[in-house]
Amino acid sequence: MTNKDLIKRLYREVIKHYQNRLIIAAICMIFVAGFTGAQAWLVKDLLDKIFLEKNTFFLEVLPLVVVGVFFAKGLFYYSYSMLLERVGQSVIRDFRIKLFNHIHKQSLDFFNVMPTGTLISRIISDVTLLQQAVSKALVGAVRDLFQVLILLFVVFYMDWKLAMVSFIVLPVAIFPIVRFGKLFRKLSTKTQEETAMVSNTLHETITGNRIVKAFCREKYEGDRLAVQVESLFQLTMKDARYRCLQHPLMECIGGIAIAAIIWFGGMQVIHGNSTPGTFFAFLTALIAAYEPVKAISNLNATLQQGLAAVTRIYSLLDMKPDIQNSPHAALLPPFTHEIVFKDINFRYEEDGNAGPGGRVLKDLNLTVPAGQALAIVGPSGGGKTTLTNLIPRFIDLQDGSITIDGHDIRDVTTDSLRNQISMVTQQTILFNDTVRNNIAYSRLDASMEEIEAAANAAHALGFINELPKGFDTVIGEGGARLSGGEKQRLSIARALLKNAPILILDEATSALDTESEQEVQKALENLMKNRTTFVIAHRLSTIRNADRIIVVQNGQIVEEGSHEFLMEMDGVYRQLHNIQYK
Ligand SMILES: Nc1ncnc2c1ncn2[C@@H]1O[C@H](COP(=O)(O)OP(=O)(O)OP(=O)(O)O)[C@@H](O)[C@H]1O
Ligand SMILES: [Mg+2]
Repeated sequence: MTNKDLIKRLYREVIKHYQNRLIIAAICMIFVAGFTGAQAWLVKDLLDKIFLEKNTFFLEVLPLVVVGVFFAKGLFYYSYSMLLERVGQSVIRDFRIKLFNHIHKQSLDFFNVMPTGTLISRIISDVTLLQQAVSKALVGAVRDLFQVLILLFVVFYMDWKLAMVSFIVLPVAIFPIVRFGKLFRKLSTKTQEETAMVSNTLHETITGNRIVKAFCREKYEGDRLAVQVESLFQLTMKDARYRCLQHPLMECIGGIAIAAIIWFGGMQVIHGNSTPGTFFAFLTALIAAYEPVKAISNLNATLQQGLAAVTRIYSLLDMKPDIQNSPHAALLPPFTHEIVFKDINFRYEEDGNAGPGGRVLKDLNLTVPAGQALAIVGPSGGGKTTLTNLIPRFIDLQDGSITIDGHDIRDVTTDSLRNQISMVTQQTILFNDTVRNNIAYSRLDASMEEIEAAANAAHALGFINELPKGFDTVIGEGGARLSGGEKQRLSIARALLKNAPILILDEATSALDTESEQEVQKALENLMKNRTTFVIAHRLSTIRNADRIIVVQNGQIVEEGSHEFLMEMDGVYRQLHNIQYK
């Protein structure tokens, strides 16, 4: 996208909503600019009427006018600054919410490739750069242009020949502004990339601090961060060098203009073609005009950074979620009959080497009648988790179809589909919140009795009551203050509370000791009775009572039947069984 397109889009999607405020702010700015011009004008009267003519009336009036002008200017200044601040902060707020919601619409694939730190850095720091571009640069430019225009009017009105002289430096001034602008933009892009990397390292090492400690990699991680921070430092210094250079450079150019004025204007006064009042007023106006010109050159830097940031923000916002509701998506009616997997083929996009042809699931067919407890077993990496991730459409098939009561899952809304599925994932995911809220996450309107009942069924009530604040205990990031088994029981309770017709348990009891596992198992079996359940387990003891067992190996169902049947068959299942029970 070109700058023009970017700004157009920014206008359409963001600035337009704040148009009225911005217009009022601009009007206030015109007043501020007008009063700045008036200040310069007063210098002329000060010198000519008071110092040369010694007019006492002006001596009495002028101080009052000066106070009035400063007050009025201050009032308008306050008004437009506050308006702009409000618009800028609103832009930040809106974009953060928009980005957050957009990110959560993305499929699992998106999160597999987008590091957390990068996403956080987009939402936090890129948005801030954008805000500065909108409230400082775009609008600040308007203000400064007004000021320059009004002051130019003043200088031309006072002495147009002198004004022309001061313009000889203009082309010299424009060159560094344009040149530095480009540099700032390039640097800003690099800086933001580097910031995202630092943010990724921080996120990974802070959340993974146990592993850092366990392998004594504090220094290693410290050095790794130091390299990144150093490169950020270098970039910032480069940026600072241009910024710091820009100021004196502009000042010198201004000095040349002033020197020309002194020489040429002074000559006019000496030859009697002009008054000292006009001369000093002219100089005051020119010096006053110089500030906004300098500011414009700074604003350009901010604007370029903002444009670079907005490019990144839009590239994120423009990523279409690869799993979306189809245009005619219907609501999935309550599940009653059967789930059919037909000719399933699946491969992870990036991964070309997982098995022949990179297919993780190969020509897989499976029909699961409602109410069945289906156990999925098989060697690690066989495709069990992948198979169950297809049901709630966390990932989409390349080939084949999954239908629930005859409805293809791609033809129904993801919400209506996922509302009928309850899951315990292989990696336990809990939030840094209270026990109660973590369980109720699956049903926000659940009553305390229901939450307790779910905790009880998951055999979690015992340890919850022993926590310092019971259900109100905050469990730390990812449940860091709980044991592995306790975490699993909370996530089972959360899944049970949802009370959905389809239940997916991926190694749900793997972190429990044999005794608790047996008890949780009993509770789960009760629940499985009127539900369709997919149970993935490595420990075969937990699936003995399943209605049906399938063995998934290399993306295919290699054996299926009851425990007894599979034992007799003397195949993969029996091998797995014998290894565990020898
Ligand atoms: N996000 C991903 N991107 C690319 N490949 C993946 C991804 N997730 C899994 N795989 C690959 O797909 C294959 C099947 O993985 P899956 O997680 O379904 O196995 P699994 O049967 O659940 O194994 P386990 O019993 O160890 O949990 C593996 O070879 C794995 O490397
Ligand atoms: Mg798995």
